[in-house]
Amino acid sequence: ASRGAHPRDLAGRRVVVSAGGTREAIDPVRFIGNSSSGKQGVALARAAVARGADVVLVGANLAQPPSGVGTFVSVVSTAELRDAVRSAAQEADVVVMAAAVADFRPVHVPDAKIKKVAGQAPAPIELVENPDILRELATERLRPGQVVVGFAAETGDADGDVLTHGRAKARRKGADLVVVNAVGGGRAFGTDENDVTIVDGAGEVVETASGSKELVADVVWDAVVKRLTR
Ligand code: CTP
Ligand code: CA
Repeated sequence: ASRGAHPRDLAGRRVVVSAGGTREAIDPVRFIGNSSSGKQGVALARAAVARGADVVLVGANLAQPPSGVGTFVSVVSTAELRDAVRSAAQEADVVVMAAAVADFRPVHVPDAKIKKVAGQAPAPIELVENPDILRELATERLRPGQVVVGFAAETGDADGDVLTHGRAKARRKGADLVVVNAVGGGRAFGTDENDVTIVDGAGEVVETASGSKELVADVVWDAVVKRLTR
């Protein structure tokens, strides 16, 4: 990383990082997905390894299996991601939810491919909301003293800018830290650079960082280390 030698301030710590984007099957060949590349989550896992942590990376649909991330668990759907994260989180000092989780999934998934019928309008796809994994982790605290970190991907809209939405989300989630970043218009998704504001559970700004995803990863761990109590 651009900050030189890593401190070994995560030595003896167990951390779980989720990365990538979950997919929900529509039929055996189609899915609802998103354009998360997983790069920020992979950078977080690598930085944690460099700082001495015992790392589990739960990766959803990463383009290639990442190297140097500790234990890698590959998942596809939100249900699989949830199971893998919760299982690793039982023993973890820190959980970072960097994955872009599909908010909704189809209610019915047919065993056979959906076919077009000439002259007929397509059947609507009925959706149901997925569990909010971050909110569950923040509420349940699977291990005492566990630090729970979320991400907030925001575009800003008529109701408020990126930071306003990010701060409101932090207050809703109950996580210790939320990394707010602007997405859309070519920012963040798939790029190597990131601009983030880290807020606490009350929505107060604790840190800002701008630069490579490696640099952002180190700033996130700096903020986490300050919150590790036991
Ligand atoms: N997240 C999660 N489970 C979900 C949805 C999101 O754990 N079902 C986590 C993400 O991993 C991220 C944080 O919650 O750490 C915020 O995700 P985001 O999509 O920005 O927020 P949502 O609460 O889904 O709100 P919305 O998409 O409506 O802005
Ligand atoms: Ca969402």
